Amino acid sequence: MAFAKKTLFLLLTSLAITHITLAGDPDILTDFVLPPNSPPVDGNFFTFTGFRYLVSAPIPPKFTAVKATTEQFPALIGQSVSYAVLIYPGGSVNPVHTHPRSAELLFLTQGTLEVGFVDTKNTLYTQTLQPGDVFVFPKGLVHFQYNADTKNPAVAISGFGSANAGTVSLPNSLFNSSIDDSVLALSFKTDVATIQKLKAGLKG
Ligand SMILES: *[C@@H]1O[C@H](CO)[C@@H](O)[C@H](O)[C@H]1NC(C)=O
Repeated sequence: MAFAKKTLFLLLTSLAITHITLAGDPDILTDFVLPPNSPPVDGNFFTFTGFRYLVSAPIPPKFTAVKATTEQFPALIGQSVSYAVLIYPGGSVNPVHTHPRSAELLFLTQGTLEVGFVDTKNTLYTQTLQPGDVFVFPKGLVHFQYNADTKNPAVAISGFGSANAGTVSLPNSLFNSSIDDSVLALSFKTDVATIQKLKAGLKG
């Protein structure tokens, strides 16, 4: 009996550890990663100033995501964390999308925000966030944010458990890529004219 209990405990523990190991980016074997042939660095390398301008910037005319991922902030390479500042003018939406490599932890600092995600059983989970609220979008699931207040902006800060969480925008992946119209028409059980209408709306 005791043996069975112990075995079960070990099994569950190792499953949990495996899960933790797989939950973030691959581990690095150094304290941090410098770009190839980089001279020695100081604190500046670990400082990202790309959000500074936001402190006094006016609200942009359309939804804007300002990111601090490995691309903008190379010190994040190997650290399994990143940020995005999300600004929603009144009535704007962050269109349905997924992050293939991380959950998203959204902290609303200003305004109100309608958020939602759909799980793998197609169940929709929604919430209306108030300033100070935190909402988690589970890894890889389709989600959106919408500022339903047409008069006031909303601002949020999102943290990610990946240094490069990636964004798959469903409107763009489906209707602003080169997938053949007939494949899309069959996939959505509609006609090519409807697909072309959807595509036309996304052309930049
Ligand atoms: C559609 O793709 C083009 C070319 O990649 C891009 O310039 C445009 O912004 C995209 N449209 C939207 C709505 O993102």
